[in-house]
Amino acid sequence: KQALTLPRFKAMKSQNKPIVMLTAYDYPSAMLSEEAGVDVILVGDSLGNVVLGYDTTVPVTLEDMIYHTRAVVRGAPGTMIVTDMPFATYRLGPEATLRNAARIMQEGGAHAVKLEGGAELADEIRLLTSAGIPVIGHIGLTPQSVHQIGGYRVQGKTSSEAEKLLSDAKALEQAGAFGVVLELVTEELAAAVTHSISIPTIGIGAGRGCDGQVLVYHDILRYGSGIRDKKMVKSYANIGDTIRSAITEYVDEVRTKAFPEEKHSFPLEQSSNQSISS
Ligand code: KIV
Ligand code: NA
Repeated sequence: KQALTLPRFKAMKSQNKPIVMLTAYDYPSAMLSEEAGVDVILVGDSLGNVVLGYDTTVPVTLEDMIYHTRAVVRGAPGTMIVTDMPFATYRLGPEATLRNAARIMQEGGAHAVKLEGGAELADEIRLLTSAGIPVIGHIGLTPQSVHQIGGYRVQGKTSSEAEKLLSDAKALEQAGAFGVVLELVTEELAAAVTHSISIPTIGIGAGRGCDGQVLVYHDILRYGSGIRDKKMVKSYANIGDTIRSAITEYVDEVRTKAFPEEKHSFPLEQSSNQSISS
């Protein structure tokens, strides 16, 4: 399988082919996503919430993102991989921004990076794209700024917020971004943004009018015990319950000595050339 290229990603907008993006953070999640035919894997800094157990994405480091990107690339060698630049790593001046993004590409193996922010990032995006680093923007609710915004609420409800979002989207396109994630934006505004730029919009909690959709792996699978119900999420499985009951059964069987059985054991007389794999 061949990873989606930038030109083919952009062409999906005009061809009216919905772009399917899903997050992944490790080898098995990436492998299963590739096998299921996901167009783009996002190594999101939601890593901090769903894998590392932080309350926000703010504590996630560049090293965390590189480490997890490497595992994802090994699991999905035929899929476009986009990695989030974590908190502040693209706000420390042009040299640091370029060095940090280059590490995500070179050491991590990502094909592109994603940055949270609008028009104020135009210089950074021009710098990265001119160095051969493709960039996806991310506007609307930007979780790295949660301490600034003061909570997770729908963006673009007032006309001044809506105008700002629209001009941010245009600025991202102008600066050379090849796509824009719209998070927690009213359906009407997300559709308006989608119509007013030529690069694809990928929505999360942004309604039906975007060029593609993105969701978090652990959310669509209900994988983990702290996965809250969110209006924007649809869960297609309940893996958390499946895992918990399987582990509970294992715990119980060891304690009651129901496991291991004779068939899991290696008697002396057969053990000399017995394989462990069957
Ligand atoms: O980190 C993440 O998972 C994201 C998506 C929700 C867009 O940024
Ligand atoms: Na993110």
